[in-house]
Amino acid sequence: MSSRIYFASSNRHKFEEAKSILAGFGLDLKFYRCSLEEVQDERLEKIARHKAREAYSMISKPVIVEDVGLFISSLKGFPGPYSSYVFDTLGNKGLLKLVSRDRTARFRSVIAYCGARDRVMLFSSNVRGRIAGREKGSRWGYDPIFIPEGHSLTYSQIPDKNLISHRYLALRKFANWYLHTRKSVGP
Ligand code: IMP
Repeated sequence: MSSRIYFASSNRHKFEEAKSILAGFGLDLKFYRCSLEEVQDERLEKIARHKAREAYSMISKPVIVEDVGLFISSLKGFPGPYSSYVFDTLGNKGLLKLVSRDRTARFRSVIAYCGARDRVMLFSSNVRGRIAGREKGSRWGYDPIFIPEGHSLTYSQIPDKNLISHRYLALRKFANWYLHTRKSVGP
């Protein structure tokens, strides 16, 4: 099994973070820039599984996709699976206007790996936290408004985001599984 894995996405920020995280496990990640069909579903797992199959059918190489949602408690989990659409339409400023006094939220990541047609492995994680009162720091996506539990700074302001993020926790599960599988199957 090769240790070269592709990350299929249209989002270079997600790829760069994933590359840096997996490098820590000795895995080499390559960017496969593409736009994948986003099936309409409440479950990130189903969306990620669908995208992984589509990506594999495009490149026929071991490939990862990631689907992420930001779930805000006072909005009954919105934007959740619609996070990408909401970011592109309302943006952080628009979303902040909807959040009331209960600011608790969680980021959820689902990593889907496809190394052979029809065989998809899923790895997920949640990071609990809260929505800041205003945007703090820059970086990308919802980073300026999400404060992970146990911190007073937003993801944007935390230099070691890649050591605590939803992406890190899901990719760590993937890397442990992948390295273990490779050891038992051999090079
Ligand atoms: P998707 O998985 O690319 O569909 O992500 C959904 C939305 O969440 C997009 O608008 C992303 O920019 C945003 N997003 C995903 N991961 C992160 C993150 O680590 N920080 C901030 N925003 C994120």
